[in-house]
Amino acid sequence: MSSPLIVPKTQSKKQWLDGAVGYEIYVRSFADSTGDGTGDLNGVTDRLDYLKWLGIDIVWLTPFYPSPGHDHGYDVSNYRDVDPSHGTLADAERLIERVHELDLRIIFDIVPNHTSSEHEWFKAAIADPTSPERDFYLFRDPAPNGGPPNNWLSHFGPTAWTRDERSGQYWCHLFLPEQPDLNWRNPAVRDEFDDIYRFWFERGVDGFRIDVAHGLLKHPELPDLPQIKDIAPGAGPMETFFSFDHIYDLDQDDNVEIFERWQDIAAPFDACLLAESGVEDHERLARYVQPGALDLTFFLKPGWMKWNPDKLVAELVGLAKVEPHGIAWVISNHDNARPVSRFGNSDRALAVTTLMWALGGVPFLYQGEELASPNGLIAPGDRHDPISTRNETDEGRDVCRTPMAWTDAFQNGFTTGSPWLRSEPRPVQFTVEGQTADPRSPLHRYRSLIELRKTHPDLWQAELVFSDTGRPDVAAARRGTTFTIANLGSEPASVDLPEGSWHIVFASRVPASDTSPVTGTVTVPAETSVVFATAADT
Ligand code: GLC
Repeated sequence: MSSPLIVPKTQSKKQWLDGAVGYEIYVRSFADSTGDGTGDLNGVTDRLDYLKWLGIDIVWLTPFYPSPGHDHGYDVSNYRDVDPSHGTLADAERLIERVHELDLRIIFDIVPNHTSSEHEWFKAAIADPTSPERDFYLFRDPAPNGGPPNNWLSHFGPTAWTRDERSGQYWCHLFLPEQPDLNWRNPAVRDEFDDIYRFWFERGVDGFRIDVAHGLLKHPELPDLPQIKDIAPGAGPMETFFSFDHIYDLDQDDNVEIFERWQDIAAPFDACLLAESGVEDHERLARYVQPGALDLTFFLKPGWMKWNPDKLVAELVGLAKVEPHGIAWVISNHDNARPVSRFGNSDRALAVTTLMWALGGVPFLYQGEELASPNGLIAPGDRHDPISTRNETDEGRDVCRTPMAWTDAFQNGFTTGSPWLRSEPRPVQFTVEGQTADPRSPLHRYRSLIELRKTHPDLWQAELVFSDTGRPDVAAARRGTTFTIANLGSEPASVDLPEGSWHIVFASRVPASDTSPVTGTVTVPAETSVVFATAADT
């Protein structure tokens, strides 16, 4: 083996993040306690015991605030309340209390890049162009030809500008027209959000996932974006969006100032701040969690990628070398096709997950991932996601948002009514109930992986030393008394164990039944990750 790369011992900005595992709840689709077909906060409270049993430490809830629902809650009309379809403020307080009784932590989702067009601020801004709220948003005069002020696009297609008929100006929206972007250069906007954070921290929330954290500040002059690719006929809105180089609308250098300001608010509450950042460049992403800035940032790229072993290894190992502490690792969330469907099967998904979980930071699962759920089947007429309902080219994100399959009873136990999103019923082997009863199920495999972080804390806390495996599709890393080999390739891989006697404590394909000691060179089957421990750490 040639020169191993050494990454220092894990150390989070908040101690309770060390070794933790997070779980994303897509509130609309997790558990419906009222029978109206939409998941709610009481539904989450009722199911916390399941998460505790699974071994989860941190629960992240997608937005449940009052919202007209054009982007399913990511268009917030009041940041300090609960939408009636999801419950009440008292339900939120009870949920926080129950979470803490169970010794769990809970983080909410804050949406600071944009509000709903139904928010009081935007209503005031439209009603009176001279109102102070006008400057909460990005209104601009038309271009000389009367069209939009620049060539920016919405992620959800087409342009990022909508005309305010009354004043003749346009407002900027990197998402839907009903999601006007806030002007983060306005100090009044900063003050408002400081207050929103405090409102929830004072109610015991343990932190926030920050929606579109890379979008807050725009270049002050809003210049045109350079186009970097041709747009293929029939390209979907996202593909079109990423045909431009987003050097003026996303990931501006001065966003970090805002993160530092928020950390000053969160730190006295020991609360954590976690960025949703679409930034792909490892060094740029590391800035989000630099000293004084946020605690964690998601690295979303593995959640978009198709099965590509060399690239997955390069991205994961490459980022861990640049940023060993601050990454929230995910291959699944409410915005992307399920990894089982994207990668082709559940063994591949768990092999990647096993590697990611040996890299430090805080891994997150997305509801249903522990069941190895594939994409849901949605009839075209049942689609809800605005990406698909407002564009004809894209199947959108509904496929990963189908209701959680608890049992094989009516509506898989999600609701007693008619679910907000219709999809096929899941057979018993894809439900929590069915998999709980089967010790070889994905659910038990994920639970074992989570447990491993508790039984073998070296897996996340010891110094990380990568081995050179000689293959781009194979990664191997030692952390103290543990050694992980991830062979994402399609051929078996032979890897030298470090000196000493080792035994298998986790294998991604099957429960690790053979725990006899091994030394020297081991052969790991294709598309499999294995975690070994030394005898000293049993
Ligand atoms: C984030 C959310 C996504 C939402 C978008 C706009 O990417 O995860 O669901 O549509 O922001 O708020």
